[in-house]
This record gives sequence, C-alpha cells and structure tokens, in this order.
Amino acid sequence: MSTRKISDSNSSANCSSTRRNFLKSSTAAAATAPFWFSTAQDPAKAFEGPSNRHVLGCIGTGSRWEGDDGPRAMKYADCVAVCDVDAAHADKGRAIVEKVMSKKGRSAKPDVYGDYRRILDRKDIDVVTIVTPDHWHTKIAIEAMQAGKDLYCEKPLTLTIDEGKQIIKVLDQTKRVFQVGTQQRSEMHLNFLKAVAMVRDGRIGKLKRAICDIGGAPTSQTLDRVPAPQGFNWDMWLGQAPKVDYMEKKVGKDLETRGHYEFRWWYEYSGGKLTDWGAHHVDIAQWAITGDEMAHTGPHTIEPVHYVHPVPFKNGYPTVNDRYNTATEFTVRCEFADGVEIVIKNHVPEGNGIVFEGTNGRFHVGRGRESLFGEPVDELKSKPLPQTLLTELYKGKKPGDHMRNFFECVKTREQPVSDVYSHHRAITTCHLANIAMRLGRTIKWDPQAEQIVGDAEAQQWQSREQRKGYEIRV
Ligand SMILES: NC(=O)c1ccc[n+]([C@@H]2O[C@H](COP(=O)([O-])OP(=O)(O)OC[C@H]3O[C@@H](n4cnc5c(N)ncnc54)[C@H](O)[C@@H]3O)[C@@H](O)[C@H]2O)c1
Repeated sequence: MSTRKISDSNSSANCSSTRRNFLKSSTAAAATAPFWFSTAQDPAKAFEGPSNRHVLGCIGTGSRWEGDDGPRAMKYADCVAVCDVDAAHADKGRAIVEKVMSKKGRSAKPDVYGDYRRILDRKDIDVVTIVTPDHWHTKIAIEAMQAGKDLYCEKPLTLTIDEGKQIIKVLDQTKRVFQVGTQQRSEMHLNFLKAVAMVRDGRIGKLKRAICDIGGAPTSQTLDRVPAPQGFNWDMWLGQAPKVDYMEKKVGKDLETRGHYEFRWWYEYSGGKLTDWGAHHVDIAQWAITGDEMAHTGPHTIEPVHYVHPVPFKNGYPTVNDRYNTATEFTVRCEFADGVEIVIKNHVPEGNGIVFEGTNGRFHVGRGRESLFGEPVDELKSKPLPQTLLTELYKGKKPGDHMRNFFECVKTREQPVSDVYSHHRAITTCHLANIAMRLGRTIKWDPQAEQIVGDAEAQQWQSREQRKGYEIRV
C-alpha cells in the first residue's frame, strides 16, 4: 500500500523592487552571456585544486543525502563535517564521506556532530547542505545564512507560508547563495526546462491550464509507541513540532514510522504529497504560468474540489495521532490571473508529471527520456525552441546538474536557478492547497499582500506555534 522510498529522486515594497531589478538584470546579463558555462569539457574541473575547492559541512545524512546530495556535493567541495541527530545516520555519513573523498584521492576524516550548530560555528566551512526533514529546513537555513554560509537546502523549503517570508527576509539581509533542491529545473533530460520554454514561446497558444499529477500519499497501520532507536535524539528530531512519543510498526519488509523518511506523511513535519512532489511539479507549472514575475505573484483562489484524508479530521486537525494523516487522494484547483489554473491531482491518465493545455494544443512533461510528448513536442523537430529562451530561463549557465549550478553560483555570487524567491511562491501554493483541504473550503489569497483574505481562521494557518526552545527567530 505504501509508496516506499520513491525518491522525488513580507518583505517591504522597497526590498521587493530591488529584488525584481536584481532578478531582471541577472536575466538580462544571462541573455548576452554564452549559453553554456565556459568551463572546459568536465565542469567539475573548475573545482579542482585546493584553492578552488569549497569546504563543506553536511546537515542531515539520511536517504536523500546518501543517495544523491552528499556524493554530488563532494564533486565540488571537500566535506569536513557531517551532522545528524541519529548517531547511526551520522556515522554512515562519515563512512560515505571517507569513501567518496578517497575515490577522489583525498583523505578525509570528517568530524561528526549531533547538533547542527557545531557545523555553523566553524569558520572554515563556507558551504552547507541541509537535507533534514521539512520541519527543520527553515530554522537551520536561517541560522546558516546568519553564520555566513552558502547553502543547498532540500525542497520543500518550508513548513508554513510565514517561514518562507522569514527566509526571504534573512536572505535579503545576508545575500548568501541559496539553491533549493528542486532538480527538475536542471535535470531530467531538460524536459521541464523545455516545457516551460514551450509554454513561454506560445507553442500551445494561450495557456489555459496546467494539470499536475503528483501521486497520492500512502496510508499506514496503527503504529506502536516504542522507544526511539538507541543514539537517535528523538527530542531534537521533533524540533519545533509538538512533543510526542516515537512510533513505528514493521509491516512486511517495510518500517512504517513517525520518523525517518516517513515523516512526509505527517502534517506535523511536512505537507504530504502536496509539498513533497508539489514542490517539483507546481514549481514548474507556476514558472511556466508566471515567468519572470513568479517571485512576486501567485494564485488568487484555491478550491479543494475533492480530497480524502486517511484519518478523521476536526477543525483541520487529525483526531488520531498514531497513523499517517496526509491526503491520499485530491484534486485542488488554483486559479491565477486571466483565469489560468493549476489543477493539482493525485492521478491523471498520462501519469506522473504535468499536462499543459492551451488554446492551440496540449502536451505532457514528466521525468523519463520519453516523458515529454504530444503534438507540440513533435513540432519541435521542424521548429526548434530558440536557444536564447533556454539561455534566459537558465540564467545563462549550462543546465544538467543542479548541484553544479549551485557551486557555479557560489563562485559567481548569483542566485541559482532554483532561487528561494520563486520557490517560496510555488510552495506557498502547495501550503494553501493543504490549508484548503484541511479546512474543507475554498481559500482566497492576495498574492501581492501575501495574505489569506476574508477568512480569519484560515489566516491563522499561515504560521504554526513552535515548541519552546525551537522557535525560529529573524
Ligand atoms: N529533491 C528531491 O528529489 C528529493 C528526494 C528525496 C528527498 N528530498 C528531501 O530531502 C529531505 C530529507 O529527506 P530524506 O528522504 O532524506 O529523509 P530521511 O529521514 O531519510 O533523512 C533526513 C535525515 O535528517 C536527520 N535530521 C533530522 N533533524 C535533524 C537536525 N535538526 N539536524 C541534523 N539532522 C537531522 C534525520 O535523522 C535523518 O537522518 C526532505 O526534505 C525531502 O523532501 C528531496
């Protein structure tokens, strides 16, 4: 039943206009720069030699870090420290660092910490990866920026809408380089980059709708209250979330838990599929719809057309606390200016990805080599996309490796392709969809003021109470 281990492997007006100019001027600069980053054949070569290597600290060394972010970051930086609140994961992280670095002919003896602040305290570390569960991203990211680090932080960047505003405030203050881990903007055969370019170039006429299939969330058995595994600092893992007992249940070969990996299916730590995969597909859909203005706008109406929660809810909260609780099925309609809409669904016939529909046609984009299809895609053979459009979208750099894009930007001091400002807007749409489903009613959103309007109760859901000792301060 469970979908296991499928890796989706208010700021002031003044500030806002400065940011708009910055984003525009970097796009303009990109348009005149050569399309492909000037590095010779192997771009990783630009990061060879001690003076070119960055010094990396890794916070959170669970499944995504191990399978992707950690080894990739070590192509461009030397890892000197790992940190995880589960000692077993931290130790596994250490072993991986030693192995990966030794394959590169560098000996590494990374320091191992259980508290991320020890990494932020170190002056020798200039870059950090943050690959923790979602409810920890904002606090660690803000403190990392305040400590002067550049950062690659996994998606979904935030747990609430207000957290996004807090991150932006600190980013504007500190001007760190910050990549969000939405690799669809860089990778997957460039399918998504091409899809955005096709929409922006009018290949389906006027865009009417983007239908996102992000899959549904799994259900679980009733979990057992058991002691957390030895060496696992459960209190710290919980962070800002309410204090509860650790729970798990072995089901066949799978372990259903309230902790590692499965945190995604608990609203206390995440937003279910809406934020787990919405972070990817809603991001691309919104990029195609709003283009350069993405960082300043969003939907105005969010309607929960259909949704199923796996446990009973009252006043927006699950009434039982020992089973996964995020939505398993859903159709949420998000309306933007001019009647363009994003429909977020757990399933569409074409499969995982996005169907773009316009006045002159429709096409599908997904992750696989064959997943960009439809008549407008066939037409690319005789009428290719203008290179300048792809160049502009990717801000003048060479797409293909999201981590490389981050490290290139660390050198050039530009914001990477998955910039915080646009991601905040995409993930806001996903948070609004969850609020609408949890409260069971249509939400009206003012994208300029970044406020839910006409619904005082729903407005409270833009932030959450944070547990004492784990508050996020800016
Ligand atoms: N971009 C993608 O396609 C993609 C794919 C998978 C996961 N992710 C994201 O990566 C993040 C991690 O997911 P995962 O599947 O690796 O989860 P996971 O549970 O396997 O790993 C998270 C790790 O963070 C550790 N951790 C928790 N709180 C911490 C803290 N305060 N300090 C240090 N370590 C802490 C946990 O102990 C665990 O080892 C999530 O936000 C997820 O959405 C992104």
